[in-house]
Amino acid sequence: MDSLRRYASIIDDFDAFIAASERPLSHTVRVQTSRVSVDRVVDAFEEAAIGCSPLSWRESIIELDIDRPGLTLPAFLGWVHGQEVVSCLPAPLLDVVPGDVIWDACAAPGSKTGHLIDLIEDVGTVVATDDNLGRLSALRYNLERLGATAAIVERADARRFDPSPMGIEAFDASLVDAPCTGEGTVRKKPSALDDWSLGHVESLGNVQRGILRRAIELTKPGGVVLYSTCTYAPEENEAVVDAILDDGGCDIEPIELPFETAPGIDSWEGTAFDHRLTRARRIYPHHADTGGFFIAKLRVAT
Ligand SMILES: C[S@@+](CC[C@H](N)C(=O)[O-])C[C@H]1O[C@@H](n2cnc3c(N)ncnc32)[C@H](O)[C@@H]1O
Repeated sequence: MDSLRRYASIIDDFDAFIAASERPLSHTVRVQTSRVSVDRVVDAFEEAAIGCSPLSWRESIIELDIDRPGLTLPAFLGWVHGQEVVSCLPAPLLDVVPGDVIWDACAAPGSKTGHLIDLIEDVGTVVATDDNLGRLSALRYNLERLGATAAIVERADARRFDPSPMGIEAFDASLVDAPCTGEGTVRKKPSALDDWSLGHVESLGNVQRGILRRAIELTKPGGVVLYSTCTYAPEENEAVVDAILDDGGCDIEPIELPFETAPGIDSWEGTAFDHRLTRARRIYPHHADTGGFFIAKLRVAT
């Protein structure tokens, strides 16, 4: 946890933050509600004697009392996808509807692609790109299991992605769930911080900016581009969005979330960011017993 100490000045109740980061995360699944009702899924878990409780603020996320939700009948049937709470937050913020054409720029292994497919009821198109072939096979498996037909899967470096051969000039909305140092995943993967280095944090910034910039370019005027990471480093979060706001092609919007979160920060180690970054949300484990996350909702200028 030593690498997290650099955030002591920006995180309230830092001791509680560290204590929560050291606790294992509970296991949750997201129900593919366009295929099956939450009640049917709960019945199936109960028939298998698996303890399950839908979350009070979103009943399609179910907490289970087992460690491997992927090895259950509802998962094999493609009714649910093992997905932690914070990973279920981005897709609904894209405001998508059936028929939309959406880009999931860094999509593998497909948790949020599957969620987007669910939100458009498998009607429309989700173009899912990733530059990692091995992870793309996991994405294909997950989409097949979830019965998704409205997805196009393509290996691509999102910074240079060109959807025109698919007959797509611009997307209604885009998701950039960026590659990051993953500091916020330490509750489910305690080794997540083993290879942490400031050099890695700083080198990712260029890739993240390149992908987010391309998403703004490829999204229609008035469309949403959602930027998310599972890390705390301001270099990978506010600094990236700050550079994109500087380009002038989008604005950042406030986000309502159903539990306590912290605002984005507007300065870090002597560097000031656009004050609008306080509209982004930082999600810390000690606030609502979740993993760590960062979300910024951008609206492309009209
Ligand atoms: C945080 S993970 C995405 C998780 C995924 N959105 C989900 O919900 O299952 C980030 C992904 O970005 C991919 N990636 C890294 N650099 C990329 C690039 N230049 N273009 C496209 N994808 C990239 C990685 O292979 C990785 O799968």
